[in-house]
Amino acid sequence: IYGGERINSRGVNIHVASHLEPLLSRLGEWERHSWAAGPIITGSRRQDGERVPVFSPYDTTKAVGSVIRANVQHAEEALKAAHAGFRSWNELPVVERARPLELYADLLEQNMEEFISMCCREAGKTIQDGIDEVREAVDFCRYYAIQARARFGDAIALPGPTGESNELYMEGRGVFLCISPWNFPLAIFTGQIMAALVSGNTVIAKPAEQTSLVAHRSVELMMEAGFPPDVIQLLPGDGATLGGKLTPDPRIAGIAFTGSTHVALLLNRALAQREGAIVPLIAETGGQNAMIVDSSALPEQVVRDVLQSAFASAGQRCSALRVLYVQKEVADRIETLLAGAMQELSVGNPELHSTDIGPVIDGEAQQALQEHLNGLERNARFIARAQVPPECCVGHFVAPSAYGINSIRELESEHFGPVLHVIRYEAEELDDVIDDINGAGFGLTLGIHSRSESTAAYIEQRVRVGNCYINRNQIGAVVGVQPFGGCGLSGTGPKAGGPHYLQRFAIERTRTINT
Ligand code: NAD
Ligand code: ALA
Repeated sequence: IYGGERINSRGVNIHVASHLEPLLSRLGEWERHSWAAGPIITGSRRQDGERVPVFSPYDTTKAVGSVIRANVQHAEEALKAAHAGFRSWNELPVVERARPLELYADLLEQNMEEFISMCCREAGKTIQDGIDEVREAVDFCRYYAIQARARFGDAIALPGPTGESNELYMEGRGVFLCISPWNFPLAIFTGQIMAALVSGNTVIAKPAEQTSLVAHRSVELMMEAGFPPDVIQLLPGDGATLGGKLTPDPRIAGIAFTGSTHVALLLNRALAQREGAIVPLIAETGGQNAMIVDSSALPEQVVRDVLQSAFASAGQRCSALRVLYVQKEVADRIETLLAGAMQELSVGNPELHSTDIGPVIDGEAQQALQEHLNGLERNARFIARAQVPPECCVGHFVAPSAYGINSIRELESEHFGPVLHVIRYEAEELDDVIDDINGAGFGLTLGIHSRSESTAAYIEQRVRVGNCYINRNQIGAVVGVQPFGGCGLSGTGPKAGGPHYLQRFAIERTRTINT
């Protein structure tokens, strides 16, 4: 159940020339490819509807493909198909439901370069992020297949009085609506869908508008892997329009959502107001993630981990570090090292393997982050900014930046990009720091850097987060190794890539027979 016999996907090590060179040559085959996406309903790739072009966030003159946006009529057809497909899928033995997950994982690995290229070109991800994306998607498939076989196979026999047999078993709930974000267009999209399917549900998948191409290609591979056409329906399109149609519909038996806290709260309210059955909302949302660095920490190690946590993936990870608390005694040294290291960051074209930081996802995100930076420029203490080369003016780039602020309370919301806020604290203020972090209401990741085990343990026990990382970076949770997800405004749990995830997609049934 804890996945001991499983090995995570290997991916590619781009620091080894003999791995990198063939990868770059295969990626070259995709650099001008144009992908076409649209709704997929009962296996049919629909051509009716508005087709819009897709451009790359790192060069908005570069076309990547086009997408036909799903409308409410498509949503109605998807509901009918998924509803009709539920019973026979749910009644299949779990070994038969789990098999296509593993075949799909194999297909993802076989088509890895295409997906890395799509992640770079459609989502602005670096090559390393693209590799990690495929690897995580593959790991979700294999992990959930193992989990499902262990939990959905034989019923559990329970003790009871003589002359009676009691058993507990699990099965699907019905049609699951899976709504995913653009920042993990393959991994999270795949993880939600595979968990729902293997548990016996049928799925309507609503990917983020910004990454419909990745979603469409993934569903094509799911079909190739043998998932029947009525178990997975794809609706790429506007969140509010499709959400407005699907969420209140009584045929929806559960929602798996990953995205902003704002939309999760909207969905929560919509479900609460709906007529009919009470259904689960599995929400994984944002964070105001902090790292606490005390005076015993190793400054070079801190700076390396801060760079990765705050700026990798252009800060567009829910787990990313937003607020760095540094004890005053070491603050000057750490800020000086950080400013120097930020000058070494390579910002630019994510299709080049030497690039550390790519663009943010779109013009709206760029503008919101720029407004926040303008506010910091007026009201906060400037620490450092990475260089953005002039050729980046054709894309949605935001310079990785660090500013000193006085309190986490100055941040009214999550700023989803490469912006680090630094707060200095005195040793005797540690409890106030902890209260402030908890008071922000989120609870996703926390970093601690300290060589004092008792201090680290004290902080870890008191800050309420889902994932705590001590003396390392705080991003990149690994499936089955660091089950991922938060609490409070950061989500409901259960943790993705953890042993309890599938249970929330299922109903439990007890069978009692008078023998
Ligand atoms: P978002 O909330 O804007 O969109 C997420 C999805 O919700 C998209 O598919 C969107 O189309 C859809 N949506 C929007 N309005 C809707 C509505 N009214 N009804 C139904 N669906 C609707 O988030 P985003 O900008 O795509 O992603 C970034 C956010 O996701 C950040 O806040 C980040 O922290 C969070 N995130 C969390 C995790 C996690 O595991 N906790 C992982 C990745 C991203
Ligand atoms: N699971 C992702 C991470 O840990 C969001 O960075």
